[in-house]
Amino acid sequence: MKYRILITGASGMLGGTLIKFFSTEFEVYATSGQAELPYASNHLKFDLTVEDYRPLIEWAQPDVIIHTAAMTNGNQCDDNPELALKINALTLNKLGISADVKTRVLYISTDAVFPGEAHKSKEQDYTASESVYGKSKELGEFFLQLRSQNFTIIRTTIVGVNQLKGRQGFVEWIVNSAKNGERIALFEDVLFTPISCFSLAESISIILNQNLFVNEKVHIGASEIFSKYDFGMALLEELGLSTDIIDRAKITKFADRAKRATDQSLDSSYFEEITGTALPGLKETVRQLKKDLYE
Ligand SMILES: NC(=O)c1ccc[n+]([C@@H]2O[C@H](COP(=O)([O-])OP(=O)(O)OC[C@H]3O[C@@H](n4cnc5c(N)ncnc54)[C@H](OP(=O)(O)O)[C@@H]3O)[C@@H](O)[C@H]2O)c1
Repeated sequence: MKYRILITGASGMLGGTLIKFFSTEFEVYATSGQAELPYASNHLKFDLTVEDYRPLIEWAQPDVIIHTAAMTNGNQCDDNPELALKINALTLNKLGISADVKTRVLYISTDAVFPGEAHKSKEQDYTASESVYGKSKELGEFFLQLRSQNFTIIRTTIVGVNQLKGRQGFVEWIVNSAKNGERIALFEDVLFTPISCFSLAESISIILNQNLFVNEKVHIGASEIFSKYDFGMALLEELGLSTDIIDRAKITKFADRAKRATDQSLDSSYFEEITGTALPGLKETVRQLKKDLYE
């Protein structure tokens, strides 16, 4: 079926990749805070903090909404908790109310909903984030579930390349630092299970085309756990750049950072079991990022 898909957060790292990925398969409607987006033919600037979402929904008339928009900077969330709540949580209530009941809403949530002592978190595990960011995303899950039908909560950790020029995420920061010979420190005591935005797009395509995980939460991340240090080393090795610029660091020494669990790992075996697919590990993820950066 050729769905009409509304993608929020279209100027963001994941939103940009989803637009590129789904534009050939579906009719894509993109929204963000930008006046225009060079890679989106149907784009509407829309501030998600407003009360009335009807102009957005009437414009896109979506069969599916993939909601990626969020206030993602942990320190900014700590400094502006009310705004974080508005953007990351109340938006889900407004989307749920405004969209037709037949519209499927996929919400991109995060590993950050889990408490500090979590490890390889499963879908049914207890959530209790210690950060404003995590709490606001968790509340977003709560609001979406009030809708009671046609929703899917995808908890993930992502790495990727921004489509919008000038934006720099974790991957671009590592790569640009290596190219400029600037030293960086990566945490060897922070564990995570990130998936590339492209691989997440492939997984979302499976979910939509096979109508899976309706009214459920599902975890989608790497099939193995590694540290941020391991990731940076593997990425630069894959790209043929010098790994000498990377220093080992420990998060415990950084007092000013927003609160964040040191073990952010997700267990994605439920997704693998239901879809019969194998999620990528570290090697496949850095290979995909190389393609995203250079092809
Ligand atoms: N990045 C990660 O490591 C990570 C890990 C786990 C989960 N996630 C989740 O994955 C999703 C995508 O993350 P990302 O890294 O791609 O995000 P990102 O690059 O920070 O992009 C955020 C997007 O949200 C939009 N946005 C923010 N406030 C808005 C507002 N008031 N009105 C309209 N749009 C607004 C931004 O639009 P403008 O900039 O144009 O205003 C931008 O398009 C998020 O929901 C995040 O919680 C991310």
